[in-house]
Amino acid sequence: MNSEYTRLFPVADLSPGQAKAVEIDGVDLLVCNAKGDFYAVQNMCTHQKAKLEGGRIRNCFISCPVHGVMFDLKTGVPKGTMTTIPLKTYDLRVVDEHLEVCVKDNTLA
Ligand code: FES
Repeated sequence: MNSEYTRLFPVADLSPGQAKAVEIDGVDLLVCNAKGDFYAVQNMCTHQKAKLEGGRIRNCFISCPVHGVMFDLKTGVPKGTMTTIPLKTYDLRVVDEHLEVCVKDNTLA
């Protein structure tokens, strides 16, 4: 059960406010630490397909480094009107102090 999870790196390697890009099975992900809560989203802005890596994390949002659209890390939903397309989000879990991700995206439809 849950064999679809891939081990990433120790939880301690990602401080609050930091994000790390990882690629699993051809899927580019950004793993984020938002005040101690961890999230994994697609590492690609839905506005003009820029990498989200390097975007600022505040509370539960990451801002795209290009035009600043803010995405909710929990749901992937953007704020504002520049894009209405949500980011794909991925399940993360902590096992033995390591983050593990499931690359089956949570997007419905
Ligand atoms: S490319 Fe991300 S907000 Fe425009």
